Amino acid sequence: MFKPVMWVRKDTQNDNMFWPSDEFKKKAWVKDESLYTEATKDPAAFWAKLAREGLEWFKEWDETYQWKPPYYKWFLNAKLNVSFNALDRHIKTWRRNKAAIIWVPEPPNEKERVLTYFDLYREVNRFASVLKSLGVKKGDRVGIYLPMIPEVQIAMLACTRIGAIHSVVFSAFSGKSLQERMVDAEAKVLVTSDGYYRRGKQINLKVEADKGVEGTSIEKVVVVKRVGLNVNMVEGRDYWWHELLENADNYCEPEPRDSEDPIFILYTSGTTGKPKGVEHHTGGYAVQAYWTTKWDFDLHDEDVFWCTADIGWITGHTYGCYGPLLVGATMLEYEGAPNHPQQDRWWSIVETYGVTVFYTAPTAIRMFMQWGENWPSKHNLDSIRILGTVGEPINEEAWLWYFNKIGGGRCPVIDTWWQTETGGTLINSLPGIGPFIPTVAGRSFPGTSHDILDETGKPVPPGEGGYLVQTSPFAPGMLRNIWKNPERYKEYFRVYGEEYYYTSDGARRWDEFGNIRLTGRVDDVMKVAGHRLSTAELENAITSHEAVVECAVVASPHDIKGEVPIAFVTLKKETEPSDQLKKELIKHVDATIGPTARPDRIIFSNELPKTRSGKIMRRILKSLVRNQPVGDTTTLMNPESVQQLKEEVGFKG
Ligand code: PRX
Repeated sequence: MFKPVMWVRKDTQNDNMFWPSDEFKKKAWVKDESLYTEATKDPAAFWAKLAREGLEWFKEWDETYQWKPPYYKWFLNAKLNVSFNALDRHIKTWRRNKAAIIWVPEPPNEKERVLTYFDLYREVNRFASVLKSLGVKKGDRVGIYLPMIPEVQIAMLACTRIGAIHSVVFSAFSGKSLQERMVDAEAKVLVTSDGYYRRGKQINLKVEADKGVEGTSIEKVVVVKRVGLNVNMVEGRDYWWHELLENADNYCEPEPRDSEDPIFILYTSGTTGKPKGVEHHTGGYAVQAYWTTKWDFDLHDEDVFWCTADIGWITGHTYGCYGPLLVGATMLEYEGAPNHPQQDRWWSIVETYGVTVFYTAPTAIRMFMQWGENWPSKHNLDSIRILGTVGEPINEEAWLWYFNKIGGGRCPVIDTWWQTETGGTLINSLPGIGPFIPTVAGRSFPGTSHDILDETGKPVPPGEGGYLVQTSPFAPGMLRNIWKNPERYKEYFRVYGEEYYYTSDGARRWDEFGNIRLTGRVDDVMKVAGHRLSTAELENAITSHEAVVECAVVASPHDIKGEVPIAFVTLKKETEPSDQLKKELIKHVDATIGPTARPDRIIFSNELPKTRSGKIMRRILKSLVRNQPVGDTTTLMNPESVQQLKEEVGFKG
């Protein structure tokens, strides 16, 4: 069906460096340096031009950018509605009947659902009317705890339409995690489902949702019937989605929002035990979502874009909802597991729907590598023209495997660096420009700037490593606050002062052209299979078990998941360590945070190494799990604990 074309060429000097071919450039939105030059000259003017070109505003801004450290604002006093931009705009054009979402259910014998832009427009309007009838007003918070079904995008856009602030919670998080977030967000309504399919099993989500609603300000719960499970419905509180929609209005006026009104809150893990509500604002977020989607993935009208991230993470928000819909693209959404019914499910989907742009995480690539290339090679993947990765540093082997086995050696691999806080991608090579170098993400997105500083705040020279920061003008999609917690927001601007947004990532300046290699988090945040987890949250969860006195969690490198948590646990005197107890602790973590946070190993220990002031020395634990020299232990309060731990861990140092 598709003719393989040479999309990239090898560098003449460097075997591991690739460039777009002339043929590829011909089609690309961005193909030469002029854009970078223009953006650097006057970033604010550049973003203003993009904002005008990409979106329809009800009222234009009086001022493009304002910086009052540590706060910044974009498109001041402008008015817009993001749902209007993602839907109403398109239905006035030929895109009215274009597929907006191709949804693939997990059960292989169940048919896909295709929602055209008009379908999506109608459903969003109807659900927006429902939300209004449930008493949701602009500025109110709506919790969304849904699996990967189109109702999740419908619910998000319906909130956006009426100016409600959504807070999506990953459906694999426990009810307790949901509850913690809903309490903080002071949500009024929750949208959830009876369940979903995962590896052929029907998972009951409503049970967790019920736990999540307890003790919160949630007054109404809307339940999507996905699986047909017999779930508990609380009279006067719980309503079926389909029943509410029966009498809903087909049109709901989009609410004009100020550019600096919040569009959503998304909770993410920091270095403390409490997740933080990252607050994104309407105008800037939409502009960055639009242009990064269009340029990073070179999205054209005929493309089929598949971002495999769950909607519960920022990647799902920006590239599995807002970005593609704002640009009017066709996107694919898949409900289930990559290995159901077999390890070639993803590749079978790519072939069936002719996916052209594919965006996933390094951990998934390494998993497929382990399963073997015979799975992708069973399918014709010639439709793919661009590959993307996100979420953690990608190792060279995985990059090359992805490039060769999935991309057939002809597709650029776009390694995008960004964070929940940044709202959209920030550092990556653009497909029509290059270069594509394994393990090197690339340059700052036009109109943004980053630096790499040493401990003293001095920029490092090419070839050297340091800490990644962003400088003003801060990208339009950047967080504006931490929900109800400005002190935590200010922490991002504390390390090097208010002029620098501190990313908590290590980075290396690759060359003199601004290319950057990311080397991973430098704080106590882990990336486990691409998921962001906090060691402190995990420690709190484990310590809340009655048998535990004390616990320290550190990240250990893992071949597939990138990193995994290892928990060092001291038990109460009267408690005997056992494998049974380890299982129980894992179950306890499942119930407190969710299965994604499960420790890979639990190590019982009579004592944890501590400083004389009683602080647990995580540095030593990290060295132990990495088989690295532990360094000087003589200043510890209990140096003998290290010897015992070496035996427990099986330290080979
Ligand atoms: O350490 C960086 C890593 O993921 C962190 C942000 O995680 P989260 O907020 O969950 O957002 C992930 C999806 C945007 C960063 O601080 N990270 C993300 N992308 C990359 C990366 N590390 C290396 N290379 C990347 N491309």
